[in-house]
Amino acid sequence: MTIDRRHLLLGSLSLPVFTACGGGGCGSSAAPTPAPTPAPAPAPAPAPAPAPADVPALKTYFASNFKIGMAADPNGYKNAIANPVILKHANSITAENAFKPDAIGRTAGSYNWATADELITWASANGIAVRGHTLCWHSQTPDWLTTGTAAEVRTKLETYVRDVVTHFKGKVYCWDVVNECTSDDASGAYRNSKWYQILGADYIEIALRAARAADPDAKLFINDYGTEDPAKLSRLMTIVADMQARGAPLDGIGHQLHVNVSWPPAANVDNALRSVANKGLINHVTELDVSLYNDPGACYSNKSSCLADVTGDTAALATALKQQALQYRALFNVFKQHPSLQSVTTWGIADNSTWLTGFPTNRGNLPLLFDKTGGAKSAARAITDDAYQPT
Ligand code: XIL
Repeated sequence: MTIDRRHLLLGSLSLPVFTACGGGGCGSSAAPTPAPTPAPAPAPAPAPAPAPADVPALKTYFASNFKIGMAADPNGYKNAIANPVILKHANSITAENAFKPDAIGRTAGSYNWATADELITWASANGIAVRGHTLCWHSQTPDWLTTGTAAEVRTKLETYVRDVVTHFKGKVYCWDVVNECTSDDASGAYRNSKWYQILGADYIEIALRAARAADPDAKLFINDYGTEDPAKLSRLMTIVADMQARGAPLDGIGHQLHVNVSWPPAANVDNALRSVANKGLINHVTELDVSLYNDPGACYSNKSSCLADVTGDTAALATALKQQALQYRALFNVFKQHPSLQSVTTWGIADNSTWLTGFPTNRGNLPLLFDKTGGAKSAARAITDDAYQPT
């Protein structure tokens, strides 16, 4: 039998109380010269909750495999719960929003660097490398960038990419130059975005060349979600082949990996990483989170049939968190098998702040490795201790 040291300590502290008063209660006998009535024995203190198990610093544990990143803007990493978590575990950071075109390039003719520069300064002071996200996207992009003739839009894209990459030259180790350019359906390989409508597939090559010219040392990525779906992966690989045939300076593929407790099988991720490595490219996992919900497509397209919130249901939540730990473990076991995978970033720091409380619908969600208090979840233990059985 294992004896819990904390239990022994509590037992010895409470011993004098029971010795003085006995089992019948203090002051219950009718003696002729009653002794002063002692105060009733206090109820024994409840045993404190077990100390949460901690995990080793992830950046150290996975140092021979890949960088460990977390996504946050300054208001996220300065938060008192998240701050110690990112400082302990991460050696890479991605700005969740502060580097996007609607933040830096909100208005034509001027740039807003303040929040992005604050992040760069903080990361540098703490020895944390910065992933740049993102330069060219169909979302969170001001209209002025895609307004005008094809020639004008081309010049705007080249100028924007040149100016932003130049501003951060030497301070950002890689860029998601183009984000989410792959079609979600079988109509073609390329997403039918404004960029594509105006410039065709050239826009990706234009952005990559402008980024390379501005900072030849930064690694250049196409970043997308859904690479765990073989059909979408195949469309992305068509784009990769096209860019490679053009001689465009593409160094790697970012796999967002917004996944969930029951999708995908880890073998699909293994397949995606291998496909990219076979083309001579680097892999990054850029936005990993494991949602508690495996929603149907309709939830994403029109917010119907989204699964009900489980965070208030103790039994259902426990089941989901166990599944989540097993999913994180399966994914990291695949990650560790790929030397081409150089960086793994979770999309957030701890469950106190995650974009999934608002996407694809408003609902509690706990998709990260650390809980709302910053404590290590079963998922964090599952990826750092092979013997641990998630409960
Ligand atoms: C999300 C942010 O987390 C949110 O705060 C913001 O409101 C919308 O964008 N794919 C991406 C990220 O490439 O930039 C997105 O980030 C999540 C999906």
